[in-house]
Amino acid sequence: MQKTSIILDVDTGVDDAFAVLFAAMHPAINLLGITCVDGNTNVDQVVANTLKVLDAAGAGDIPVARGAVRPLLGKSQYAEYVHGADGMGDLGIAPSARKVDSRSAVELLRDLIESSKEPVTLVPVAPLTNIALFLRAFPETAKKIHRIVLMGGSASAGNATPAAEFNVWHDPEAAAIVFQSGVPITMYGLDVFMRPGITSQEAALLRKSPELSAQFAGKLIEAFIERLHVSPITLGDFGAVATAIHPELFTTEMFDVVVDTSSGPARGQTICDRRDAFLKDLEPLSLEDSASVRVVLDLDVEAVRQLWLKTIDKGAF
Ligand code: RIB
Ligand code: CA
Repeated sequence: MQKTSIILDVDTGVDDAFAVLFAAMHPAINLLGITCVDGNTNVDQVVANTLKVLDAAGAGDIPVARGAVRPLLGKSQYAEYVHGADGMGDLGIAPSARKVDSRSAVELLRDLIESSKEPVTLVPVAPLTNIALFLRAFPETAKKIHRIVLMGGSASAGNATPAAEFNVWHDPEAAAIVFQSGVPITMYGLDVFMRPGITSQEAALLRKSPELSAQFAGKLIEAFIERLHVSPITLGDFGAVATAIHPELFTTEMFDVVVDTSSGPARGQTICDRRDAFLKDLEPLSLEDSASVRVVLDLDVEAVRQLWLKTIDKGAF
């Protein structure tokens, strides 16, 4: 089986956990490493949560590195109302015996990309602070990145604000650096983010599974449903990993995109130019600020759901 080599960048986060579980367990993924960043919760908690998820996945020795402690310019703004005080549903999951890598996130990114014999796909599902710092610190290595498939942004409405999606809103300057990097980007944003979900009935099935990964996922989903009072609940960040290995399940379109880094009400918006060609020609986006980005607009929801369920619990689905 041809494997896809990926590096995850996370702010674990309940839905980041769904992505990490899947990436660590799916046979077509070679998970080279994980870098952690300030986002849903503080970066040390993100590291601790990510190590716990690797335990639940029964993963091998996958390097996990600590990254940025706050955005490039702004202050940290956590999402405890969604993910809980500990970022992982406040389930009191026992600490992992795994150790964080001695390298910083940007050093781990450099080493993994330089040493990989296969093309490397970066899959950031968090604020883009680490990726921006890496692009600035190691530009020669950055040229070797095959592509970036990120969870973030929106060609429609926001969630953190009416205009902006949380990951981009948390660090708009970092997002602008990444979007303008010249690396091919696929944007898995809010236009599809909420659609692949798991019901409370499916969560109960997972919780009763003999597989540790399924039990862990079932408990997380039940906590997520209880906190947000909604079922089915989105698999969130997992969708970006699925896009990276099964693009045939997703419908995309290329748009010129610019990140709003102003201090106005649209700060953090990923402005996608969806105008007809003749209008775009009249008043084009400035090329130094914008980038041509592959934006995910639709997906085969059931196939994507089953992809996750069958990976996390081989027995029950
Ligand atoms: O807007 C959704 C994103 O913000 C997801 O990555 C979620 O984990 C939070 O980081
Ligand atoms: Ca996330």
